[in-house]
Amino acid sequence: MPAVVLIGAQWGDEGKGKITDYLAEKAEYVVRYQGGNNAGHTVKVDEQEFKLHLIPSGILYPGKTCIIGNGVVVDPAVLLEELSYLAARNIDTSGLRISANAHLIMPYHKRLDAVEEDRRGEHKIGTTKRGIGPAYMDKASRSGIRMISLLDGAEFKEKLAQNLEEKNYLLERVYEAEGFDLEAVYAEYMGYAERISHLITDTSLLINEAILAKRDVLFEGAQGTLLDVDHGTYPFVTSSHPTAGGACMGAGVGPTRIDQVIGVCKAYTTRVGEGPFPTELDDEMGEEIRKSGAEFGTTTGRPRRCGWFDAVILRYAARVNGLSSVALTKLDVLDNLDTVKICTGYKYQGETITEFPHSLKYLSQCQPIYEELPGWKQDTSSARTFDQLPDNAKNYVRRLEELTGVKASIVAIGPKRDQTIPVIDIF
Ligand code: GDP
Ligand code: IMO
Ligand code: MG
Repeated sequence: MPAVVLIGAQWGDEGKGKITDYLAEKAEYVVRYQGGNNAGHTVKVDEQEFKLHLIPSGILYPGKTCIIGNGVVVDPAVLLEELSYLAARNIDTSGLRISANAHLIMPYHKRLDAVEEDRRGEHKIGTTKRGIGPAYMDKASRSGIRMISLLDGAEFKEKLAQNLEEKNYLLERVYEAEGFDLEAVYAEYMGYAERISHLITDTSLLINEAILAKRDVLFEGAQGTLLDVDHGTYPFVTSSHPTAGGACMGAGVGPTRIDQVIGVCKAYTTRVGEGPFPTELDDEMGEEIRKSGAEFGTTTGRPRRCGWFDAVILRYAARVNGLSSVALTKLDVLDNLDTVKICTGYKYQGETITEFPHSLKYLSQCQPIYEELPGWKQDTSSARTFDQLPDNAKNYVRRLEELTGVKASIVAIGPKRDQTIPVIDIF
């Protein structure tokens, strides 16, 4: 009965929500461990489409315990909106629990995110403006306010007053923006406290007890490896640790408790926001992939940048996450192409490179080296076993496995639950 960490192996939006939902049929616990409502996880259940930002995608199966871990930054307004959205669609959310140590996203975090992006001008990161970076900054600088403070009004007010002194100075004097009123923010957050305090608990204890009792536990990552603040394309990253190690820190479990790490990756590559992207296609092919893959952001609606599969990135993701296997999604999006390309390495100043460069400057000057494979020109969306896939699609998957050194445990050929091919058993 394993504990499995599921991470994004590229730049986010790999289909983590769909694969989490698929695995949640068997898992009893589903845990989010980092990020916040910068995430957008779309899950299709029959004809209904659900968009989740904060609540683990396991919530769509009844009877699961879904946990928002200590490593997540929580905007309580978004949490409540998401709870109402789910309730309106008859989803039982009674299994939700939130870590007392998770940090709160405050209104000033969102405003600071926006004004800081404006100040960066042409060097902007392209953040989701959800207050993620500023909330993690406060956590690291030890001035953040945690969920546990919502349980004690006087303590919350004191921390808020201390923060507003600094944040209002910054907003009003440095950025010439509007500040916030102590009483108004206090009243707003005490209103949230009334509605969510019963969900706040020691989630590390819950998760460790579940693991010791040999329950199936799934850790659902947000964002992706290349958006990790340490291992991603810094500074064009998010402010948390979407890589597998982040699950231990962000859920309060030790590495010895984790049995498998699954990297979710698309059969091609996408990215939202700024930063280098070696296999990006700025042409009709990029447009075709965007159209057939419906590549528009779940959170901000921005068109996603699209490009060919990059095996250099996947080898890197396999290394920094210690991937046990890959869940390959959106293979169906390539169904109509005459040929498909895979980036096997980069050319940098005449030299061939096969390892992901650690310098951003270096990466932005890399040219992809492609291998071209014949397409399959056949609809894969109704395949239910690996053998039912056209030969050229199977060859494409097998070639990706060879180039990345990681086996595919799941292949997805559509957004629905049953459009998922199990290749190797996980639970
Ligand atoms: P996440 O952030 O990693 O959960 O991914 P998103 O939900 O932001 O983006 C993935 C999108 O692709 C969603 O709209 C999914 O419904 C959809 N999707 C997931 N897997 C597949 C697949 O195999 N084929 C197709 N066509 N769509 C998929
Ligand atoms: P899911 O979980 C794709 C990107 C933003 C920006 C950078 C920093 O759906 O895969 P932030 O608001 O986090 O400070 O923005 O990270 N980004 C994502 N890109 N998918 C996501 O989440 C993302 N969350 C953040 O576009 O480039
Ligand atoms: Mg997404």
